[in-house]
Amino acid sequence: MKFSKRANQVSPSATLAVSTEAKKMQATGIDVVNLSTGEPDFATPKSIIDAATASMQSGKASYYTPVGGLPELRQAIADHVQADTERTVTSEQVAVTVGAKMGLFETFQALLDEGDEVIIVAPYWVSYEEQVKLAGGSVVAIQPQARNLKTTPVELSHFKTDQTKLLILNSPQNPSGLVYSEEETRAIAQWAVDNDVMLIADEIYGKLVYNGARFSSVMTMGDAIVNNTILIDGVSKAYAMTGWRIGYIVAVPQLIRKILALQGHMTSNPTAVAQYAALEALQGSQKPVEEMRQAFEKRLKQTFNLMQNIPGFSFDHKPEGAFYLFPDVTQAMESKGYASSSDFAMALLKEAHVAVVAGEAFGMPGHIRLSYATSQTLLDEAVRRIRAFMK
Ligand SMILES: Cc1ncc(COP(=O)(O)O)c(C=O)c1O
Repeated sequence: MKFSKRANQVSPSATLAVSTEAKKMQATGIDVVNLSTGEPDFATPKSIIDAATASMQSGKASYYTPVGGLPELRQAIADHVQADTERTVTSEQVAVTVGAKMGLFETFQALLDEGDEVIIVAPYWVSYEEQVKLAGGSVVAIQPQARNLKTTPVELSHFKTDQTKLLILNSPQNPSGLVYSEEETRAIAQWAVDNDVMLIADEIYGKLVYNGARFSSVMTMGDAIVNNTILIDGVSKAYAMTGWRIGYIVAVPQLIRKILALQGHMTSNPTAVAQYAALEALQGSQKPVEEMRQAFEKRLKQTFNLMQNIPGFSFDHKPEGAFYLFPDVTQAMESKGYASSSDFAMALLKEAHVAVVAGEAFGMPGHIRLSYATSQTLLDEAVRRIRAFMK
């Protein structure tokens, strides 16, 4: 079959590929500890499920909703962002999307033309690059020179060209767990304003920061920055709702209208029942979010300490957010005779039965990503197996 050039230039998601391989091994009876997936291991809180069930039973979830989402959900998102950022947000600035992933896809479709460049900062989430390519743009990936893996305005200026249209800042970051401070975020967001580059702030892990780290949303940083920013967020990670597929975009109304014109032909409204669930997530008790955050924090503390002591593993910085560890494993690879972190990750899967994602998938070879969104018992077991493998 002859596929389109567009489809042929896209590689399958590396994170999903590892997880599929791990599941295949599990299906043959092999006991794999799967640390490759990016989703909370907690069940969606009961109050959210109850709200979804009620919306189905009453019949109101049976119908199309407006393309941009239920008016009450758009308003709840605006209120939620306003409460978090102390900045007035209206529902015209909000689009509800099929996960944050679709929000990003639609943003690229709305803004990029052939030849436009998008700056992303390694290590970066796997889908940015492929989504930019699908929109005809090209990716300019920065390998930060700073030891802590953070980029700076000076570094960004080296990579800016006349074609630079967008910059993506993902903090807290997948896969490294690093969190930019308020000053660092502000400096980058201001650089974007000064250089006429629009900023995509992917804050999907904004509620998941640990050990006293503070997360400052770009939305708190004044009119010039906010009007130049497209906020990407959603309920997947903070509310343990990955499968429900509800994300949102907050941006100037003019851009939201354009995105919704596209969405009307792409997905129509995000699934109605999931929207009712998201409404409850945002309006109901926020206690479960804090409980899950505390559980992640405990696991981070314990697992980070254990990982640091594995021979050949080292960290560029102490992770402070999201739910991933991203150790530098170059020494471990060398001591075991592997030429790449992909080979190392494959050996960990096949021989130690621990599934992780190689740094290559995130534009930063020499590292692996492990998710600690799983029980401490399994995390301890993974560390034990990796240690044994390294001997
Ligand atoms: C950095 C980042 N952005 C966006 C997404 C997409 O989130 P969603 O599941 O809401 O589509 C993910 C999911 O892994 C992510 O890690």
